[in-house]
Amino acid sequence: MTSQDLQGKVALITGGSRGIGREIAACFLRAGASVVIASRKSEGITAAARELAEETGSDRIAGVVAHVADEEQARAAVATAVERFGSLDILVNNAATNPHMGPLTELTESKAAKTTQVNQYAPILWTKLASEAWMAEHGGAVLNIASVGGLLVDPNIGYYNATKAALIHLTRQLAYEVGPEIRVNVVCPGLIKTELARAVWEDREDILSKGLPMRRLGTTDDIAQAATFLCSDRASWITGQSLVIDGGALSMPVGINA
Ligand SMILES: NC(=O)c1ccc[n+]([C@@H]2O[C@H](COP(=O)([O-])OP(=O)(O)OC[C@H]3O[C@@H](n4cnc5c(N)ncnc54)[C@H](OP(=O)(O)O)[C@@H]3O)[C@@H](O)[C@H]2O)c1
Repeated sequence: MTSQDLQGKVALITGGSRGIGREIAACFLRAGASVVIASRKSEGITAAARELAEETGSDRIAGVVAHVADEEQARAAVATAVERFGSLDILVNNAATNPHMGPLTELTESKAAKTTQVNQYAPILWTKLASEAWMAEHGGAVLNIASVGGLLVDPNIGYYNATKAALIHLTRQLAYEVGPEIRVNVVCPGLIKTELARAVWEDREDILSKGLPMRRLGTTDDIAQAATFLCSDRASWITGQSLVIDGGALSMPVGINA
């Protein structure tokens, strides 16, 4: 992939202060894009913007404070991209939450509402705002970050996974609704070594890696490289698609063949 893939594009990435979102920001900057990253904590987003500028040598980066479910903050983040850098060509709906661990029968209404709002409604809200502000008229690409969990059953994160399954479906629905001006795709990461998933991989990396066809856990760069392609003009006829990036986890034998 050349460093010119996203030259002249402006991207907005939610949850861009660490983990997968931060790496997508770094990859986009190296590919020539201008980038606005958004997250809830002022300190984290300011530090991430500064460090990304240092790491990539690009000063075309801005950080904004925004809770993805807060419409006014979302609107302000979208406006920052357009006012500061002149357009909004790419939106990455990356931020997510998982306040409930355990079976669905123990889920409370407030935790269900929070998970739905952040993981499922916010990507629709940000897509709508990006569309109104720029993309409907000038075109654009939206990338949602779901999870391979959206295709699986899990004993502990069933509701989170259900919102990711919904996000995979919503991607197809949105692609139908906002084309041909706007493309909408989704990536479904397997286990990636970030803070969010630390409790799952820490102290168990060797065992988990051995169980995968690719014999290693995922890195944030594995997701960022695919995101860069899907948001670039090279993917201009790809929309409504989900791409699983899981080191082969879904290719494992199940049931009586195991
Ligand atoms: N790591 C994995 O194994 C894995 C696997 C499959 C899918 N995913 C998905 O990948 C995405 C990123 O995960 P990650 O592992 O990179 O997470 P992470 O390392 O915990 O980073 C999460 C980012 O989102 C921000 N954030 C959290 N809640 C937010 C909210 N309500 N509004 C705005 N920003 C918010 C955080 O910053 P603040 O705290 O400052 O808000 C941070 O920048 C998520 O959609 C996740 O579901 C991850």
